Amino acid sequence: LRQAPLFSGLDDEAAGLIESSMGSVSLKRGEVLFNEGDDGNQLYVVTDGKIKLGRTSPDGRENLLAILGPGQMFGELSFFDPGPRSATCTAVTDVDLKSLGHDALLPVLASHSDVALALLHQLAGRLRRTNEVVGDLVFSDVPGRVAKALLDLASRFGRRADDGVHVNHDLTQEELAQLVGASRETVNKALADFASRGWLRLEPRSVVILDLERLQRRAR
Ligand code: CMP
Repeated sequence: LRQAPLFSGLDDEAAGLIESSMGSVSLKRGEVLFNEGDDGNQLYVVTDGKIKLGRTSPDGRENLLAILGPGQMFGELSFFDPGPRSATCTAVTDVDLKSLGHDALLPVLASHSDVALALLHQLAGRLRRTNEVVGDLVFSDVPGRVAKALLDLASRFGRRADDGVHVNHDLTQEELAQLVGASRETVNKALADFASRGWLRLEPRSVVILDLERLQRRAR
C-alpha cells in the first residue's frame, strides 16, 4: 500500500489498519469499473496495470482525461464534490485495484494529515496538468500535443535502455488519439512523421523514444 504516494507517509500500524478496511478489485482489459454519471462511493488506488478515465460526448465521441498506473488514485471527486462520477473508468490492461469506501476515507483524512496532504498534492498536480492540457488544446498543434502526451506517458511508464526510452503505454492508436483530442488519422500522421525523422520507433501498444531532446523541443 505504501508504494502509493497517497499512503507513503504512513507507519506500519496505520498502513495495516487502513489496508484492512480496503477491498480488492481485479478487472480484465476492456472491463468497465464504473460509468460517468453513476453514483460513486469508493476511492481506488491502482496496484498493478493501467486504467483509463474517459468522457463521451453526446454524439458518441470519446475523450480520455487520463491514463493511470500503479500507485495512482482516482474516484475522489464524487467524494469531495458530492455528485455522480465525472468520468468512466475502463481497464486498459488486466488491472488490480485497492478500494476504500468514501465513508472510511473521512476518518483516515482526519487522523492522518500525511494522507490528507498527499491527496491534496495529487489533486493539485491533476489541476496543473489539466490546465496544461486546456492550454495545449488552444495553443498547440496536434504534433505538439502528441509529443507532449508521449513524454507524459514516458515519465510514468518509460524504461531507459541502450537504444532509447521504451514506453509500454498499452494504448491502441484510437486510445492515443482520444488522449490527444484529435482524429486518429492526424495523430497517426504525426507519429509517422516523428518516426521518419528518427525521433522514435513505433511498436504495437508501445513506442521507443530514440531522440528525447528533439521530442521535448517539439512538445514546447
Ligand atoms: P470521480 O468523479 O469520483 O470518478 C471519476 C474519476 O476520474 C474522478 O473521480 C477523478 O478521480 C478522475 N478524474 C476526473 N477528471 C480527471 C482529470 N482531468 N485528470 C485525472 N483524473 C481525473
